[in-house]
Amino acid sequence: GKARLVVDTDFTVAPVNDRLFGSFVEHLGRCVYTGLYEPGHPTADENGFRGDVIDLVKELGVTTIRYPGGNFVSGYRWQDGVGPKEERPRRLDLAWHSTETNEFGLHEMVKWLDKAGGNELMEAVNLGTGGLQGALDLLEYSNVPQGTELSDRRRANGAEDPFNIRMWCLGNEMDGPWQIGHKSAEDYGTLAASVAADMRMIDPDVELVVCGSSKHEMPTFGSWEETVLEKTYENVDFVSCHAYYHPEMQPDGTRDMKSFLASGVDMDNFIKEVASTISATKARLKSDHDVYISFDEWNVWYINDEPSKNPEGIGNWPVAPRLLEDVYSVADAVVFGDLLITLLKNADRVHAASLAQLVNVIAPIMTEPGGPAWKQSTFHPFALTARLAKGGTVLEPKLASDTYETAKYGEVPTINSVAVRGADGSMSVFVVNRSMDEATEFEVRLPEDGSFSAVTAWTLHDDDLSARNTLDDPERVTLHANESAAFDASDDSGHVVKVSLPAASWTAIQVR
Ligand code: AHR
Repeated sequence: GKARLVVDTDFTVAPVNDRLFGSFVEHLGRCVYTGLYEPGHPTADENGFRGDVIDLVKELGVTTIRYPGGNFVSGYRWQDGVGPKEERPRRLDLAWHSTETNEFGLHEMVKWLDKAGGNELMEAVNLGTGGLQGALDLLEYSNVPQGTELSDRRRANGAEDPFNIRMWCLGNEMDGPWQIGHKSAEDYGTLAASVAADMRMIDPDVELVVCGSSKHEMPTFGSWEETVLEKTYENVDFVSCHAYYHPEMQPDGTRDMKSFLASGVDMDNFIKEVASTISATKARLKSDHDVYISFDEWNVWYINDEPSKNPEGIGNWPVAPRLLEDVYSVADAVVFGDLLITLLKNADRVHAASLAQLVNVIAPIMTEPGGPAWKQSTFHPFALTARLAKGGTVLEPKLASDTYETAKYGEVPTINSVAVRGADGSMSVFVVNRSMDEATEFEVRLPEDGSFSAVTAWTLHDDDLSARNTLDDPERVTLHANESAAFDASDDSGHVVKVSLPAASWTAIQVR
């Protein structure tokens, strides 16, 4: 096949918000315990933070971290996680049928973020069992400098300076029947509106994320956003989207890889539909205020498979069990790269995103207790996209591509791509070939006003689409230099780059 991307520096989508490269740490399985935090691990510091994990987190290039859930937050009492460790209670975690020891809480998270490179905290409040008072107390504890019972308790607990948390999630997936304290759109919208307005009475500078739909295919999708935004619009800054993709099992026992490789199409439609709902609400309310999308959970997740089944039994509440420990393949990383391209393409409406999650739980980084930490296949597209795109500006992608047929999404473009102009004048192009069997000759037409002399490309591809990184073979899947990338010899302007894209592959091209 053939495809062509035309970019022009005069036609921009939006600056790349650093927050697009956020991630997510939930008290779930081994994300926190034996992931971030493992006192006694050979690389652990005096806080019990694993140094090998911190090194990988820095290399990954993540920014804002959403915390502490997820479904977990809807039953969480934040007070349990602050104060002397020996006094912290052990609690049932109903969301994941586990025991929460509370050894790690808000102060530890703030400290960990500092060690991991000064990343921003995006804190979620509990609107399942928690409600308005719990949210206000947590904000007072976190952001008020001193002189009240809660702010002074924070200081007594070792944090003299306020945490100054800007971004707050007003609950998690409150549209989902599985959520602790699940609510109707009416009830949630009414509660979220008062929580938002009242949080602003404490700190007018907070940026608030109201829950949108937990899946594109929720039966309430669309009407949920409409009702909730109508009630909260003036007092929130973001509405959330969550999406997870996996290749669905077909009746013949094989997986629908063609549809899976086109997951970016679904994410793109989801974003466009939510953006339209935001615009319609703004129009109806005659508002001057803008609300953006926080795509604060996205990934590939084999949600129906064994590792995602909760423990069971009234007497069986394990501490940090192995849950959601998906081991990602080459195909998964290609789809993952496409999702990043899709987020970038929509950078005008999506101002924040969180890869769910960071360590061990559907994560780019894996660990063994007492043992090593390593990179999953998905680590690579994330780290390279973050490195090349941060600080840049997304350009309007004019893309000509073949198409192919999928069972789930009908006819879809075979190629998806986006270009980001760097602050230093370089150009980075991210591109995915969704075809299972055909390579594509890809041509990039660069802006006429640039002067470019060097091209470098990296491709994630393997003849074995199911290859994976494991404890025994942690570097099986990685990026390779794509030696085919070159300026087009038949074009004297120096503005045309050609690259061969293998079937089912993800590529980043940098032109300087
Ligand atoms: O990321 C795993 C879970 O997926 C989160 O806890 C929840 O918000 C979503 O359903």
